[in-house]
Amino acid sequence: GNRVGLVGWRGMVGSVLMDRMVAEGDFDHIEPVFFSTSNAGGAAPAQAKTHRTLQDAHDIAALSQCDIIITCQGGDYTKAVYPQLRAAGWQGHWIDAASALRMEPDAVIVLDPVNEHVIRKALAAGGKNWIGGNCTNSILLMGLNGLFRENLVEWVSSMTYQAASGAGANNMRELVKGMGVIHAAVADELANPASAILEIDRKVAKAIREDVPTEYFGAPLAGSLIPWIDVQLPNGQSKEEWKGQAEVNKILGTTQTIPVDGLCVRIGAMRCHSLALTLKLKRDLPLEEIEAIIRSGNPWVKWVPNDRAITVRELTPATITGTLQVGVGRVRKLNMGPEYVSAFVIGDQLLWGAAEPLRRMLRILLG
Ligand code: HSE
Repeated sequence: GNRVGLVGWRGMVGSVLMDRMVAEGDFDHIEPVFFSTSNAGGAAPAQAKTHRTLQDAHDIAALSQCDIIITCQGGDYTKAVYPQLRAAGWQGHWIDAASALRMEPDAVIVLDPVNEHVIRKALAAGGKNWIGGNCTNSILLMGLNGLFRENLVEWVSSMTYQAASGAGANNMRELVKGMGVIHAAVADELANPASAILEIDRKVAKAIREDVPTEYFGAPLAGSLIPWIDVQLPNGQSKEEWKGQAEVNKILGTTQTIPVDGLCVRIGAMRCHSLALTLKLKRDLPLEEIEAIIRSGNPWVKWVPNDRAITVRELTPATITGTLQVGVGRVRKLNMGPEYVSAFVIGDQLLWGAAEPLRRMLRILLG
């Protein structure tokens, strides 16, 4: 059947998902049922067909009527509702943006341009749980899919520059408010070209330390950065850093673990995650061959030649944001040896990092 329950469609990731589903005509292929955690009985959005009012997102019987459920409601919702649904005997497909079920043995992390073979195998084996990956890892794999597909990667050091959107909508607002606070502290001096730069800098530093809002990030992000994302683990990694190796290997379905590790850093970009990568390849390949393999990864790879003028124009969050392109550039051999290669990868955290793999999984299920 094609009755699809949508939960959390009004939030940030959910809204991006809805826009993409409209743009790709996904609603032509489904009978959508819109659920709400707060407004059951209210009017459903224009895409509704048979069910014109919002259903209660905690109503297990109503959810059980769906063949497929897509949720962007978050991990707490998943933990509360998913076990009840399965306990009630529901046999449908569960597509989820939250990480709660991601590492469960019966869940596949979906990123079909990279792991359609893993998805198809699980489907054939009766798999029913399809979970979106962590944004950073999905973007890494979208960018360098070719090298992983050719089994060329011995290990990856992944140093990230992660956007505010990964932390949530309130965090994006806090970033922009902080930028405004900084500007306001020195607006008069900026308007006067003769003002002293060190006086501007002193006021900016004071504003960052004392006045930039920190309610959501816990530290000022505007004009600064935060070298820690998510909770601390006993081994000194952040949870975001731990996800790198765990998820990359699960997505790829590797039999021998590819080490992935590095530091995850929050920076003042809105919704593009960037990664500075060091790869150790299993072989010394000519750069032209490496380029050809990366370009062949998937149609969304935007190859940026390792040239200054092109790089500063094309390989930035400013250029990539809001698009499905995954920028890959700064690829060159490093001093460490001929198998050591650098790369800089950028992708939109809300598109390939969150919404897009979910709607593509829906289309796979619809056949
Ligand atoms: N954990 C990611 C971040 C977003 O904080 O940027 C979710 O994948």
